[in-house]
Amino acid sequence: MMVDAPKINQGLEGIYFTESGICKVDGINGRLYYYGYSIETLAENSNFEEVCYLLLNGKLPKKSELSAFRKNLASERELPEEVIMMIKRASKKANAMDILRSAVSMLSFFDEDSGDNSEAANMRKSVRLISQIASVTAATGRAKAGKAYVEPDPKMNHVENFLYMLNGAKPEPDHVKILDTMFLLHAEHSSNASTFSGIVTASTLSDMHSAITSAIGTLKGPLHGGADEAALHMMNAIGKPENTVHYIVDALAGKKRIMGFGHRVYKTYDPRARIIKGRLEEMQNSADKEVRNLTNIALQAEKLMINKLGKSHGIWPNVDFFSGPVYTDLGIEDYLFTPIFAASRIPGWAAHIMEYLKGNRLIRPLEYYDGAIGKKYVPIKER
Ligand code: ACO
Repeated sequence: MMVDAPKINQGLEGIYFTESGICKVDGINGRLYYYGYSIETLAENSNFEEVCYLLLNGKLPKKSELSAFRKNLASERELPEEVIMMIKRASKKANAMDILRSAVSMLSFFDEDSGDNSEAANMRKSVRLISQIASVTAATGRAKAGKAYVEPDPKMNHVENFLYMLNGAKPEPDHVKILDTMFLLHAEHSSNASTFSGIVTASTLSDMHSAITSAIGTLKGPLHGGADEAALHMMNAIGKPENTVHYIVDALAGKKRIMGFGHRVYKTYDPRARIIKGRLEEMQNSADKEVRNLTNIALQAEKLMINKLGKSHGIWPNVDFFSGPVYTDLGIEDYLFTPIFAASRIPGWAAHIMEYLKGNRLIRPLEYYDGAIGKKYVPIKER
């Protein structure tokens, strides 16, 4: 009996797979909320550490709770010697996201809660990974630049310490502030590809490190987190603002994707991109020539893509588009952009994994087989 082909939602587009109270992405109106707080409110009033607490605990902390949480984060920054060695040895040839993926996998060997998948252990591992992923990213930056590892400073806040470990000097307060906002804006985004892959791994009752390793591997791709680095490469390839039209027209005519534009859920301006663009414009006066040039190219490209060169529908910038010039202004190399994205997204990944495990059901979708059946097996010597 022939069965009608089911409706296929390619790329799981439009499919709800679970309920969640963590994050609302309103793709029509371009709004984003973490536990009900708008991203604009959080970017204006909160900070990355407080947002980590919010995502992991579902509520904003009281003063004493935040202070204890900060101490906890600061106490988990150190990396095992073996992981530092691996980073140093891999750093010359390996991609920074591959180093991070391997480091997180390796961190599981040394985790004191390894083998314990209880809710309490998962919470401890989440806090530890928030601290350690930032340390791995900074250590990778140092190693790739041929510089010595810098020990964390427990007196500094999370982002301040990250910049300190990366540059070996106490960072400027305005650099800490802008990077803290970047971390906060990237901290969470519902069931995006990397979060989903982390949840899929966790749904088999594997463990937190395996799930986060999956998520990092997924974030790496240029259609997802890797777009931030790719967007900067494009701006560099454009070179001058006056070349932008030519470059974009050519790329679209060749059916190429313009990195940092478009989104599966937002069909309007990504609110995170709007905030980053605002910060970039504020930085323009104090920025150096290279960053001002990149910003001018980015603004030209944005205008062209939104108007889609007069075609039927525009394509809006996403969170990855304006990040490159901001990170460049902070002196951060392009290969660290996506690891920094991972260091920012880890609270969101962990929050979703822990939430899903509360009502866990193995994730196992179907594919519709459209090949032949009942083929005759021909022995190898007769083929
Ligand atoms: N450049 C050129 N055209 C684009 C782009 C782009 N960046 N994004 C979408 N389009 C066009 C498509 O060609 C298509 O046009 P059509 O309707 O005329 O055929 C239309 O917009 C819809 O595109 P889809 O591929 O159906 O959109 P989808 O939801 O599958 O894609 C995606 C989302 C993968 C992010 C896509 O926009 C893309 O490839 N963007 C570039 C990579 C990128 O910036 N990724 C980061 C996303 S944000 C994040 O993950 C953190």
